[in-house]
Amino acid sequence: MTLLSEARRQRRVAWKLRHLDQVDSTQAEARRLIAAGEAEGWAIVAAQQSAGRGRLSRAWLSPPGNLYVSLILRPPLPLAGWPQFASMAALAVAETLDRLQVAGVALKWPNDVLVAGRKIAGVLSESVSDYLVIGIGLNVNADVPPDLPDATSLKLVLGHAVDLPSLLQALLGRLDNLLEDLDRGESLTERWAARLQTLGRSVRVQSGERTIVGVAERVTADGALVVRLTGGVEEVFHAADVTLNPGSV
Ligand code: BTN
Repeated sequence: MTLLSEARRQRRVAWKLRHLDQVDSTQAEARRLIAAGEAEGWAIVAAQQSAGRGRLSRAWLSPPGNLYVSLILRPPLPLAGWPQFASMAALAVAETLDRLQVAGVALKWPNDVLVAGRKIAGVLSESVSDYLVIGIGLNVNADVPPDLPDATSLKLVLGHAVDLPSLLQALLGRLDNLLEDLDRGESLTERWAARLQTLGRSVRVQSGERTIVGVAERVTADGALVVRLTGGVEEVFHAADVTLNPGSV
């Protein structure tokens, strides 16, 4: 199935699109829109970012050729329910890649999207007063820097360049569909957790200054990761950096 037919198959994309050739960060632009009194429903897309941001205060390299988008939502839920929107975004990326017949798409807790074990996309969610800003960075056509051996791109896995506007439409369409599922009261946690390659594996968790080794047992209803430490004690993580232990199965 082509990207365009996939985009057409899905219901009309309802997002208000704001396209920028260049921006510091689409997350920062979202904050500016919110401060200016703009309501939810914006999808801010940039061709490149000069100060792209990732989770845990990392930089997100943002050359032309990839997809950089921030969505402004106003979740009609208490704050505790908001993490599922970031999971929804990761799921939307994964399901968009499935439809492109990309093999080996999985998620790494919390919301990295991997292809054959390499990171192809990341999700950054930030609450800004009553709003939730979900940023998605997807490596598409730009060359992957050699100093990032654990990263990959759509061009690398498919063997050809991908049309960015069609890809964006397909992704926004998937997001629409998943938001409808949430509106209908469906929980996406199970669908998301089923794709988490982290579960059941021996992991190393970096949380602030602490490094913890244990087995990633399960996720809670609000998306936190439960890790069983040696000795059986369980610890719950809401934000951390998780890597699979080398040699774990
Ligand atoms: C991660 O660390 O994995 C999350 C990366 C999120 C990057 C995206 S690109 C669009 C949006 N704007 C940013 O500055 N960051 C997010």
